[in-house]
Amino acid sequence: MFNEGNFSKISEFIYRKSGIYLELSKHYDKLYKFINAKIVEMELSDFRRYFYILRFDDKDGSAFQELMNAVTVNETYFFREHDQFEVLVNNVLPELDKKRSSNEPLRILSAPCSTGEEPYSMVLYLLEEANLVEKRDIEIIGIDIDSNVIKKAQDGKFSERSVHAIPPKQLQSYFKKAGFSYSLIPDLIGTVDFKVVNVFDRADIRKLGKFDVIFSRNMLIYFDDASKKEVAMNFYDMLKPGGYVFLGHAEYMSRIVSVFKAKKFNNCLIYQK
Ligand SMILES: C[S@@+](CC[C@H](N)C(=O)[O-])C[C@H]1O[C@@H](n2cnc3c(N)ncnc32)[C@H](O)[C@@H]1O
Repeated sequence: MFNEGNFSKISEFIYRKSGIYLELSKHYDKLYKFINAKIVEMELSDFRRYFYILRFDDKDGSAFQELMNAVTVNETYFFREHDQFEVLVNNVLPELDKKRSSNEPLRILSAPCSTGEEPYSMVLYLLEEANLVEKRDIEIIGIDIDSNVIKKAQDGKFSERSVHAIPPKQLQSYFKKAGFSYSLIPDLIGTVDFKVVNVFDRADIRKLGKFDVIFSRNMLIYFDDASKKEVAMNFYDMLKPGGYVFLGHAEYMSRIVSVFKAKKFNNCLIYQK
């Protein structure tokens, strides 16, 4: 049903739509299983018919969404690369707080947020910084192309592995444990606004408005150079003057575009507009 020729067609389609670059040697089996199961479930004759629906007859976008949900890698956990959250609350937000007018909220985007651990880590760090939170509105928005992870993020339920790096005192204060699952306390659910958004969809990202800070960690590694550049320039447009981008530790803006100014706080390299 699904063969290597089909793989190159669909991986090219996925790349064009999402920037995600799939390799035959690494991703063939996953796509083979997913697409064969879809062909059976949708009662289609073959791959050609499935691919036709995906491109020309996917009115509500559900076929594309399911395909995206199947190919994304969603690994994340609370306090991942925790020094960046420290720089955010101790250096970046206080600096921006001085620059912005007093009635303006500080706006932070987590793109991509996966199941929500990254933006909720920001919330937990901010809660320890009462000064900042009391005097200024801080809006946190999380986006991801995968609708399953956004649903999970909205539910606010996390696994033991996902919360392993949270210090016991904070874990006890902000989560309720039930079996092996940790639920955020109701006061914290809703402190992050989650949306399904593709970072390549210029119309959708424009609707999000302008941001002071963008965290974009561990997504660009899945893109090739041209896609990285496109997303970096989208982020540049989405930032307010003086705003910052945080990347994952293995990602360097200087290798992608030269429009940002690199700045070092403690041991963190971050990028200013
Ligand atoms: C490994 S997770 C990173 C999560 C978090 N930022 C972290 O570092 O822990 C990568 C996420 O990127 C998302 N992603 C991939 N391509 C995307 C795109 N074009 N637009 C938005 N999100 C995307 C995936 O769905 C996945 O949840």
